[in-house]
Amino acid sequence: MEIAKKNIAFLVEAIMEWSQYHGRADLPWRHGINSPLPTPYEVWVSEIMLQQTQVTRVIPFYQRFLERFPNVKSLADTTWEEFLPYYAGLGYYRRGRNMLKTAQIIEQQYQGKFLQDRDQLLALPGIGQYTANAILSFGFGQPHLAFDTNQQRVLGRFLQGDKKATLQVEGITAHIPADTEFRQLNGAIMDFANGVCLNRQPHCEHCPLQAKCVYAQTQGQQEATTSTKAERFPHASAVAMVFLHENHQHYYSSTLDHYQPFILPQGNTSRHQIQAYFQREYRLDLAVRPPFAKGFRDAQPTLLINAQILLGQPDFSIFDRAAGKAARQQALEKLNQS
Ligand code: ADE
Repeated sequence: MEIAKKNIAFLVEAIMEWSQYHGRADLPWRHGINSPLPTPYEVWVSEIMLQQTQVTRVIPFYQRFLERFPNVKSLADTTWEEFLPYYAGLGYYRRGRNMLKTAQIIEQQYQGKFLQDRDQLLALPGIGQYTANAILSFGFGQPHLAFDTNQQRVLGRFLQGDKKATLQVEGITAHIPADTEFRQLNGAIMDFANGVCLNRQPHCEHCPLQAKCVYAQTQGQQEATTSTKAERFPHASAVAMVFLHENHQHYYSSTLDHYQPFILPQGNTSRHQIQAYFQREYRLDLAVRPPFAKGFRDAQPTLLINAQILLGQPDFSIFDRAAGKAARQQALEKLNQS
């Protein structure tokens, strides 16, 4: 689709203007801890945290993390055990591991200086298109759109009337006026997505893009025809089947003969409930991923969940062959009763 240059210029001007009054300039990663602008390292930390967690929840983690690890070197020099308390509660094991690996690579191979080349950034563990663009724009002021789901929604609706429209990001970026400050623009579009162009029920009536926005002109019809209804699943009454493993290498099972998932008592289906259950029963800290499959088992709604052991020594001796059938039976009965 031909992208209208003047429409992009209109959008940029309107959103930049909007953000002067309604933007979130006070978010801690919009300025540096010790300088007016965030360092590329600070941007990277914030973006990894923001990938998986809501802004309000990230803020205290971000501040605590940077007090303890203010730069690449401090992070590269730390251990997993030391790192984890500053990160646990924010997300997944793999992302944390990748953060440490990336810090070590930058420290050892690039003298601790954050990379500003897109391809080099993409080669680092845990850095994909979005994070690379965010580092380049927020950290170095380079002309890239970060293009997270929020930006996709605003531009998809404005240009094609559908938040999921396929867009040519490079083409759009090329039409952004040359004097645009990309640090601000990226933040402004994200804030606009959060304040006006909401995922559900956008505030079109207050929107400064209305006059040229395809979504507003079609009253959301285009998007309504392409979006599928969210699948409904009764989580509250579901049983969780947890696949417990350590770094996808060692698997733990509640049965001896062949690998089987742990089946948690009914009602333990949220991430926090599952974490609390394993902490209580086995003294293990887990990273719990969202359900990767939903289904039914004995006509009961069932979530299949993938959980990794973060900290703790798995002691499943009750499941050892040597421990005998009685001990296993007892443990399984206890599981079923609780
Ligand atoms: N500012 C910079 N990156 C951001 C993000 N991912 N979400 C919200 N605000 C941001």
